[in-house]
Amino acid sequence: MTTEQWQARKWVTMSELERVPPGVDPNVPSSARVYDYLLGGKDNVAVDRAVAERLLAVAPDARAVARANRRFQIEAVRHVARQGVRQFIDLGTGIPTAPSIHQTVREVSPACRVVYVDHDPMVRLHAQVLLADQPGVAGIQGDLRRPADILADPHVTGLIDFDQPVCVLMVGVLHFVMDAEDPPGIVAAFRKPMAPGSHLVLSHAMAESSPEAIAQLRLATAGSPAQGAFRSHGEVLRLFDGFELIGPGLVPVQDWRLTNDDHLPPLDDTPRLRLDAGVGRVPVQ
Ligand SMILES: C[S@@+](CC[C@H](N)C(=O)[O-])C[C@H]1O[C@@H](n2cnc3c(N)ncnc32)[C@H](O)[C@@H]1O
Repeated sequence: MTTEQWQARKWVTMSELERVPPGVDPNVPSSARVYDYLLGGKDNVAVDRAVAERLLAVAPDARAVARANRRFQIEAVRHVARQGVRQFIDLGTGIPTAPSIHQTVREVSPACRVVYVDHDPMVRLHAQVLLADQPGVAGIQGDLRRPADILADPHVTGLIDFDQPVCVLMVGVLHFVMDAEDPPGIVAAFRKPMAPGSHLVLSHAMAESSPEAIAQLRLATAGSPAQGAFRSHGEVLRLFDGFELIGPGLVPVQDWRLTNDDHLPPLDDTPRLRLDAGVGRVPVQ
């Protein structure tokens, strides 16, 4: 790095170093912080806001889609808990928003146990603060591209009994896993130990999004961990191999609903950023 580059880097980071925890590089966008900005949160820095604004310039509905994605997972886990499932693993948790997964499922049954997993240090920091002294809830820093490590983690083995149904969430996260990293193999590794009656709650950025939105995100995130892979409906459907889809199937996230309660204002047009969502269930013989 030249002196000029270093000075420019220092200039960019100095004002923000006070706000970011150790291990967070404020020069590299993070998907957790870009999403936080879209949801109206405060845990983001200039480089994240720049990515989000580039997206919003071509896909103004991205905020509404992010909110619909939160609503989807809350409705989905509430339903799964009502089916009697008491254990949840949330892969790619993100920065906390209200209501959280554990608050939602514990309203159904206080016996619910939840493990949050994310590879982002900012998310880990929040988890440490928020989840301290909460028996039955844990947050770990882990990478879903290494399923064996997650499944062997003492927090997971301590809280989750795979002989009983479990709900695994992969919401808005698998599009950060590149094809070469084998997303279907990752889902299959979590599917393998799941007992009948277990569920997969998943949403994914779609190749059917507008080409401008895809191009802007590619440009703004190239080479960073926030870079995404947009996949077709057929490709995402194949991630549900070994599950039966419940409810409306794999549909745009704002259209996934089991009831007519809980309405968000409808999105006007076909969203330019399209996220599809689905819930799969391991068949009970
Ligand atoms: C767009 S946010 C989605 C957050 C939350 N699941 C939701 O939908 O509200 C994506 C999250 O996935 C996390 N993530 C991305 N790649 C990951 C990986 N390989 N392992 C674990 N977490 C990952 C990011 O750090 C970020 O917090």
